[in-house]
Amino acid sequence: MNSLESFDYVGKRVLLRCDLNVPIKDGVIADDGRIRASLPTIQYLIAQGAAVIVTAHLGRPKGERKPELSLAPVAARLSDLLGQAVTFSSEIVGSEAAKSAVAGEVVLLENIRYEAAETSKEESERLSLAKELATYADIFISDGFGAVHRKHASVYDVAKLLPHAPGYLVAAEIEVLKKLTQNPERPYGVVLGGSKVSDKIGVITNLLDKVNLMAIGGGMLFTFLAAQGHEIGKSLVEVDLIPTVKELMTRAQTLGVKLLLPTDIVVAPEFAASATPTIVAADAIPADQMGLDIGPESAAAFAAAIGECKTLFWNGPMGVFEFPNFAAGTKVVAQALTEVVGISVVGGGDSAAAVRALGFADSAFGYISTGGGASLEYLEGKELPGISVLE
Ligand code: 3PG
Repeated sequence: MNSLESFDYVGKRVLLRCDLNVPIKDGVIADDGRIRASLPTIQYLIAQGAAVIVTAHLGRPKGERKPELSLAPVAARLSDLLGQAVTFSSEIVGSEAAKSAVAGEVVLLENIRYEAAETSKEESERLSLAKELATYADIFISDGFGAVHRKHASVYDVAKLLPHAPGYLVAAEIEVLKKLTQNPERPYGVVLGGSKVSDKIGVITNLLDKVNLMAIGGGMLFTFLAAQGHEIGKSLVEVDLIPTVKELMTRAQTLGVKLLLPTDIVVAPEFAASATPTIVAADAIPADQMGLDIGPESAAAFAAAIGECKTLFWNGPMGVFEFPNFAAGTKVVAQALTEVVGISVVGGGDSAAAVRALGFADSAFGYISTGGGASLEYLEGKELPGISVLE
């Protein structure tokens, strides 16, 4: 694999794939971590005398020009962080700004997923978009780690058309994740949260025989409680997955993996920041209440188990951390991660946004991965098309 520093960039044009998929609410960027993480490669390329044409996605517009998913606010923030103008090109195909970019200039193309071909299952469709992107540049640098698990035109196909290398971010992410997959120091624990168990079934299945501890929080935990036969009231549940979850619990037992589930839950009558929180036992959730966070006893047990680990990966908040009344579980787990003696990795846009929103500094953790699905798939041992194409 080439490295970013393999090329001479003087007078060259570089197509740079970044992951700038940041949370934006009412036009305001809530967490710019992914933009910041993209800066070192952009700054290096500028300093080397390249013209830099950045391509990225925001959300899932599915080939439609949805104004709320425009990258325009990201161009403005990128410009602030770089301390230089960023030319925003609302054209993607046929971008005059991209074609006329000069040395030291940074052009950000509009949301690449406005083009249906970007995510098409038809290779020929993706390739025609990739060919267009390739006309803008001499070299392709892949630095959008959060999207490398996607076989998309700007991630995968374009790499086949131009000399290519990973950027600093992709290289750094792989180095960290390798430490988790190749002989991790033990005990090795994984803490999973987030709302949907269906998003995490793959990772639970594939990681169960690799870890010593698996702790489950977030909305997905209620499918586990339901699988144990408990009343879960109005909590989130994926009923069709109850049999699968039961099998996973049995497998964990057979493998001797400690599967940690909460013993108490913070419940409320409704999903609202102002809802009154009550702590109940995990096997006694009232029928008219919903679980919105793990309880204090559970959070303490999770923290103690995390404290015993030498390698720890965390993906997914423990509760509705956006509501202060239901943020304590996530906060206790985040605090425990900062105290791990060994490697602690926070993975995923949501988890990274959660720890920052709760006031933790990035430097308090071993590493904050910009990849959600991408880091999970890497840990599962799946092939990531955006990485293998660079090899
Ligand atoms: C992410 O947010 O995990 C990445 O930007 C990838 O986004 P996607 O899941 O919509 O492909």
